[in-house]
Amino acid sequence: MKFVHFGDLHLWSPRMLWREWYEPKRWLGRLNLTLGRAKKFPPGYRLPAINAVTGENADVALFTGDFTNFSLREEFVMAAALFEPVLEKTRGNLIAIPGNHDRYTRGSVEEGLLEHFLTFLPPEPVHVRKLGIRLSVVCVDHAVPLKFSSNGVIHDDVHQKLVDTLEKMRKTNQIVILMGHFPYTTPPEHPESREHKLIGEEKLEALVKEYKPALYVHGHKHVRWAYRAPETPETLCLNCGSVAMKNPNPAKQAGYLTWDMDENNGKIKNLTAKVYDGNSQWTATPLLEDA
Ligand SMILES: [Fe+2]
Ligand SMILES: [Fe+2]
Repeated sequence: MKFVHFGDLHLWSPRMLWREWYEPKRWLGRLNLTLGRAKKFPPGYRLPAINAVTGENADVALFTGDFTNFSLREEFVMAAALFEPVLEKTRGNLIAIPGNHDRYTRGSVEEGLLEHFLTFLPPEPVHVRKLGIRLSVVCVDHAVPLKFSSNGVIHDDVHQKLVDTLEKMRKTNQIVILMGHFPYTTPPEHPESREHKLIGEEKLEALVKEYKPALYVHGHKHVRWAYRAPETPETLCLNCGSVAMKNPNPAKQAGYLTWDMDENNGKIKNLTAKVYDGNSQWTATPLLEDA
């Protein structure tokens, strides 16, 4: 079964949402865009990214969040249009979750734009998608609107639901791909900052240690990696990096991951990073696990 894993598209619109003038993030976000985010996520990268992903002809597409940058209506409209061919090509096997940028402010969450436009998103924070008799993807949603920072938060009720779900799957000997937006661990050379990390990450790490999903797939930190943390050696953590960011470092430049997975034993082969040259080519490089 072929997988394509992409994320952190960060579709942005330059509009200031004046009705949320009281939200510091609206001002900080605008400033950020002026200072470089607009160049960092060039609009010209968006369509080639979606074309490359659909061109993989994968059986399953995983999108690990941050469709938008400011959770604006026009950004969600763009996302809905761009994801239509992905849904079509995978015959509905697009499994996606929101990121912190898709719940940018409390007001944008209350408006319900995310659910309104991206109807393919799971209806609940812990969601199971069965891919084969023994293979399932379990999605968990830790994205919350915070006033200043870009953290994720593990709420107790969501975490308990995840524990219950994995417990049930263990009883039936399921192979699990766990999917979230935020990493619970990062390679030592890419430490996570206080304002960007998943608050309560130790709970997720303990859960991974206990239930040993074959993969933990995520994004949020815009660097591509395959990492086995010493604390959770039985789970391979895959960060797809951003699919639309411009950067001279190939691990940060626009790209995504692909691999083949045996649905009977969970073994993965041909793990590959595809990186955009900013023009028309996507270069494939085998992705080796970080030590
Ligand atoms: Fe992101
Ligand atoms: Fe994020």
